[in-house]
Amino acid sequence: MKTILIKINTQNIDETKIQQAKQFILNHECVAMPTETVYGLAANAFSPQAISRIFEAKGRPSDNPLIVHISDEAMLLDCIDQEITLEIRTIMNAFWPGPLTLVFKKSHRIPDVVSAGLPTVGIRMPNHPIALALIKASCVPLAAPSANISGKPSPTKASHVYDDLNGKIAAIIEADQSHIGVESTVLDVSTSPFTVLRKGGISIEQLQMIDADIKYDDALVNNISTPKSPGQKYKHYAPSKPMLLLEGSLENQLAYLKTISMDDILLISVDEIIQNINVPHYFSLGSRHDFEKAMNGLFEILRESEFLSISSLIVTAFEDYGLGATLNDRLRKAASEKINL
Ligand code: TXA
Ligand code: MG
Repeated sequence: MKTILIKINTQNIDETKIQQAKQFILNHECVAMPTETVYGLAANAFSPQAISRIFEAKGRPSDNPLIVHISDEAMLLDCIDQEITLEIRTIMNAFWPGPLTLVFKKSHRIPDVVSAGLPTVGIRMPNHPIALALIKASCVPLAAPSANISGKPSPTKASHVYDDLNGKIAAIIEADQSHIGVESTVLDVSTSPFTVLRKGGISIEQLQMIDADIKYDDALVNNISTPKSPGQKYKHYAPSKPMLLLEGSLENQLAYLKTISMDDILLISVDEIIQNINVPHYFSLGSRHDFEKAMNGLFEILRESEFLSISSLIVTAFEDYGLGATLNDRLRKAASEKINL
């Protein structure tokens, strides 16, 4: 299949380009679109034929449900079979549009292929003018997983989508880099108390400021429980080379790094470590407390490591609070080995 590239300027959206992308959606094809978290692979959420193309292009396991993207509340009501209580509305008002997916009981309009047979559906209103314009123009909600080959880091640039999916999908909207850089937080509001199923662009502390009862799904705090979000059980983001994750204090991480030969190893770490060690191959994600900056650069350096002549990677974990917990979640999923220092 020939993949068409549609270049759109986020600051000055050309409506004819949105119409071009919309035509593919109406023809049950997949279109990669920018969002503020990562690029998504969008298709008509009400069309099983379109949805099957998403699974095929990504090589995605069929038991992993898709997030449905909406541009307004009328679309939300089409997708769910659940009352929007005051608690839920407060959360929606605080974080939508934005990097938060809410899991509701699904309506009959959502095909089983979207929800992977679950009785629920994840819904997100993205905070990106191009994504919102495409959803509005299409007049249907758009199911969109991250636009990568399953298992690889999510794409934060159109070129990452091209590398993974050129020839497999109808079109890629080329726009700016995703400014958040990791996926949305998934919050289940279909049962009480509300539970975080996947860590993401909104921290649990931010959610608890709105609703103090919000908790993590048990599977996110122990290794025994079955995750309620099927995607959590898959290995993800992993570079093809071995990747060692160092957990523990900055002092211990630094002391450990000084004991080993780093000649053909890429060190991905923070300024406070990089400035205090002499290694040939390194990438700094920024200051250790600037979680947002680190989220913005993480997936890209994991992708770029594939092209470097190194034999393995070492990455240092962040402090485990706020969005540092999201960063650590992605690093733990990507790592082939971990050391607790
Ligand atoms: O930021 C994002 O969320 C991006 C952009 C494109 O919106 N999308 C994204 O989609 O990351 P994906 O498919 O790569 O990850 C969706 C995650 C999976 O872990 C999946 O298991 C979970 O959300 N999920 C979706 N629907 C669910 C449901 N009904 N119940 C539990 N988990 C669900
Ligand atoms: Mg994904």
